[in-house]
Amino acid sequence: MTSDGPRGKDETRWLIVGADGQIGSALMNALSQRGAAVLGTTRRPASGEARLIFLDLAEPELVLEPSTIDVAVFCAGMTGFAACEADPVLSHRINVDGAVQVMDALAAAGVHVIYLSSNAVFDGSVAFVNVNAAPMPVSLYGRQKAQVEAHLTTRHPVSASILRLTKVVGPNAPFIRTWTLALEQGQPIMAFENRLVCPVTEDAVVTAIRVIGQRRSAGLWQLSGEAEISFAAFARQWFSGRPAALAAIQATQAPEVSSRRHGSMQTHLPQAP
Ligand SMILES: NC(=O)c1ccc[n+]([C@@H]2O[C@H](COP(=O)([O-])OP(=O)(O)OC[C@H]3O[C@@H](n4cnc5c(N)ncnc54)[C@H](OP(=O)(O)O)[C@@H]3O)[C@@H](O)[C@H]2O)c1
Repeated sequence: MTSDGPRGKDETRWLIVGADGQIGSALMNALSQRGAAVLGTTRRPASGEARLIFLDLAEPELVLEPSTIDVAVFCAGMTGFAACEADPVLSHRINVDGAVQVMDALAAAGVHVIYLSSNAVFDGSVAFVNVNAAPMPVSLYGRQKAQVEAHLTTRHPVSASILRLTKVVGPNAPFIRTWTLALEQGQPIMAFENRLVCPVTEDAVVTAIRVIGQRRSAGLWQLSGEAEISFAAFARQWFSGRPAALAAIQATQAPEVSSRRHGSMQTHLPQAP
């Protein structure tokens, strides 16, 4: 499916912007395991790892020789809805101004950019929303995502890809870590019955990014889970086969949700050749 070299080695040279996050760290691991040349950015200067470069999007200065990079995957940002609302100025500086500045510089240097966006660019009124539907964000985070999408679509139509994702699940997903911690501490696993999730796995995300990056497939793409389920139902799936965990699940109601919002999209990815 991907264009690996003759010995199955990934010959693309990657930069992961935001290498410490859930998706960034999964990508760093997966690409390194395939023997790819991969660099990452961090805002933890003490990390000391040679393949990690310091970058803070609040004051972006990327010290890098772009001719050593083929594809940059942009995973960094303030990703919490509540954190963005709590500090609109800082979240705009990081998620919009800083992101655009770094991606513009990379694109100008001939690097293909993959920007990770979200189903939050839609208002959740339609299930499995089509890639061509007009963005209609209702959160600040969603508006910031939509703003960057519009910039890339206009300014870099042939050197940028946008990949919208639904909720990405894996052991490092923050809500799953919260559940696991609760379990370890003998606490109930609280999971909403009235909030929908459309989970897609980290493995599927990594595969889609590899395909888009290796083919330099510019444009707008979507990767969604196949089914919308409540967080409580997902908790029962995630912990299936673990009776103690299943017994600890407590289905609750999110008080602020009056009607069920959808979190799914129609998957739209480059076709296999
Ligand atoms: N995970 C999902 O379910 C999901 C779903 C849809 C879309 N997405 C999108 O996919 C991308 C990656 O998501 P994720 O879940 O991996 O996010 P994440 O775990 O929150 O990671 C975000 C990364 O950005 C870094 N970061 C935060 N502020 C920064 C700043 N000022 N300068 C430089 N780096 C900064 C963080 O660094 P620290 O580690 O130092 O904090 C972290 O490495 C995001 O754009 C997100 O919107 C994710």
